[in-house]
Amino acid sequence: MNGNMRPDSMERITTKALAEKFIDEQVKIVREQVGDKRVLLALSGGVDSSVVAALLIKAIGKQLYCVHVNHGLMRKNESENVIDVFGKELDANLIYIDATDRFLNLLAGVSDPERKRKIIGAEFINVFADEARKLEGVDFLAQGTIYPDILESFKKAEGKKAVKSHHNVGGLPDDLKFQLVEPIKLLFKDEVRVVGEALGLPHAMVYRQPFPGPGLGVRCLGAITRDRLNALREADAILREEFDNFGLNEKVWQYFIAIPDIKSVGVKDESRYEGWPAIIRAVNTKDAMSATIEEIPYNVLHKITARITAEVEGINRVLYDLTPKPVGTIEWE
Ligand code: XMP
Repeated sequence: MNGNMRPDSMERITTKALAEKFIDEQVKIVREQVGDKRVLLALSGGVDSSVVAALLIKAIGKQLYCVHVNHGLMRKNESENVIDVFGKELDANLIYIDATDRFLNLLAGVSDPERKRKIIGAEFINVFADEARKLEGVDFLAQGTIYPDILESFKKAEGKKAVKSHHNVGGLPDDLKFQLVEPIKLLFKDEVRVVGEALGLPHAMVYRQPFPGPGLGVRCLGAITRDRLNALREADAILREEFDNFGLNEKVWQYFIAIPDIKSVGVKDESRYEGWPAIIRAVNTKDAMSATIEEIPYNVLHKITARITAEVEGINRVLYDLTPKPVGTIEWE
């Protein structure tokens, strides 16, 4: 357990200089651990896996194989950003898999949130394992485990009934045996971000708000359909764009759109127009166990409503969810 415990003497990484020292140390450790072998990494584009990727590219270059699985439930342009940053700018060995059809076919008609999570988690492992089997000579698996993940796994035993099954990437099948490379496992999130910036990753990637593993799958409520999923992706992109424009991205911890599987009657071009409601969720929290609601200025809400209803096919209302956690969870599913 020792290597998994943060020593009391470990200094908090708060500056670029401290981050650079950490990076140099980890580069040495990883080179020693890995030698001339190959390393595999599931690169979602989230902060943790991105920082591990950038660190390992620095340490071992093309010995690292990054696999980005697009499950079709990513936000707008997210996979494209991963390709731009890692495939093009950092010239990594990036394997991009568009598995949209595989996921959406399995999810068709499934409305129970936990079943949706399980299908997405299991299929993610299937797709990733398929790729891993195709690569020869890979002995190591890199993971973006961070210190709160380790602390969380100690706490689980005494916990109350789980509200949701959050961790969607469980173990790989038995035939795939890897040694783990976990260079940021003793870092807290704020430290991971400082390291990410020192590694030269784009600010937007390093300060990306948390995004659940099942992605838009738990925001396209009930049984997912492609048309509603597309509407959700477009509406969510508008929300994020306007939060950026009004500087709210620095003030609100997590913000997104959810779309339920209901339609209401509206009117457009003097005709009846049935559409879905887009629900805005914008919360602040310290640990995601409880959350408060942000007071979003009225003009911002008006602008977002006007844009979404004008620009997104199929949406005819916009609602603002004022429910704190508890009693609502942050996500709707
Ligand atoms: P809830 O909805 O439980 O969310 O209040 C708390 C935080 O966890 C995220 N979340 C998930 N993250 N897989 C994840 O990786 C999941 O299945 C999942 N469900 C919720 C949520 O976005 C929020 O930040």
